[in-house]
Amino acid sequence: MKKLTRSESLFLRAQKVIPSGIYGHLAPVSGLPDCFPHYCEKARGHTFEDVDGKRWTDFMCGYGAVLHGFSNPEIETAANSQNANGRVFNQPAEVMIELAEELTKVIDFADWAVFAKNGSDLTTWAIRVAREHSQRPIVVKAKGAYHGVDAWCDPGLGGRIESDRQDIREFEWNDFGQLEDILNQNQDNVACVILTPYHHSSFGPSVMPAEGFWSEVRSLCNRDGVLLILDEVRTGGRLHDGGSHRYFGFQPDLSIFSKALGNGYSISACVGKRRYEKSSMEVFLTGSCWNDAVAMSAALCSLRISQRDGVAESVLRKGRFFSNGLEKIALNHGFSLSMTGPSSMPYPWFEGDNDLFLLQSFCRLAAAEGLFFHPHHNWFISNAHNDDSLSKALNQVNRFMPMLREASL
Ligand SMILES: Cc1ncc(COP(=O)(O)O)c(C=O)c1O
Repeated sequence: MKKLTRSESLFLRAQKVIPSGIYGHLAPVSGLPDCFPHYCEKARGHTFEDVDGKRWTDFMCGYGAVLHGFSNPEIETAANSQNANGRVFNQPAEVMIELAEELTKVIDFADWAVFAKNGSDLTTWAIRVAREHSQRPIVVKAKGAYHGVDAWCDPGLGGRIESDRQDIREFEWNDFGQLEDILNQNQDNVACVILTPYHHSSFGPSVMPAEGFWSEVRSLCNRDGVLLILDEVRTGGRLHDGGSHRYFGFQPDLSIFSKALGNGYSISACVGKRRYEKSSMEVFLTGSCWNDAVAMSAALCSLRISQRDGVAESVLRKGRFFSNGLEKIALNHGFSLSMTGPSSMPYPWFEGDNDLFLLQSFCRLAAAEGLFFHPHHNWFISNAHNDDSLSKALNQVNRFMPMLREASL
């Protein structure tokens, strides 16, 4: 019998005490359980080492939670320095004010900021602020868009009751005619439209906003007094250092950030315009460790690095170099590959590969080379990547492509 790897034996051990062993999007069934490691030992920069000692070049960045590279020295120093004084107190620390000042400085429309520990906390809170402000019940979202684990929007079916979604309406991304119909049919009942800056569904190509999409959405919201909430949990820091709305040229009313905000430290923020501040004070917000000064120090340092080093532009440039390289290599080997979505967080799409088998084979071959690419989720480029590490990865891909050709015949 084949000897179990350490990763496999840990997973068996986990299943005795943790439902499914590993749940959520990190569950092995969501990826490639036959070749992805289940557990990680350590990570630094753009690489990580699994519990079996295999070193990987990373393209997932903790599913987006890391923008400046794993264990970025500057951010770790800022976090450690706060940690020396403690992290969760009976009162907030001064860093909370500094962080809110920084966010309202870098995000042009933001007059205030609140904090929590993850994205779901604040997407749900934000729609309640919209309901409080408008005194209306309905929330409009894009079909297939992920906004978190709460019952109004989670992708699972378990534990839900009909009323969880009775005030949720959905339209197809980019179909602003459909959005207008929903607004017309629910006159004076829609509180908000909540959207991601572009459509990044799992198991499929990313879709950028069509020409005029954002200006149309903004003017429909203005017409009907509906709040426009931008869910930047995944995109924050990767499209524009001042918020992804700047990348696409519009202004939301509230924006929510998490993932990359703390570069691996658990924190989320919702920023908003002054006119929604009063309503924001009416919607109760708190949580265990929500005032964690270490996570706030990490976020403050991370934001300052982004401003100082132009990190969004940098990861977009690195991503362009990498995506263009991959598309060229694929073409040289007879494949039509499109790297969809923004270059700093692309989702690869082989033409006609609707069942994703080809992409899965690609990611399996990459895994054998120690390249961590995911077949069902967009990838992430971190600023710890450099032209050398990306060129090396491209060379590795070029080497295994003949095997993909063979497997596809
Ligand atoms: C766009 C978007 N919104 C909200 C969330 C939920 O954030 P969290 O997992 O931190 O609760 C996610 C998480 O992946 C996300 O990608």
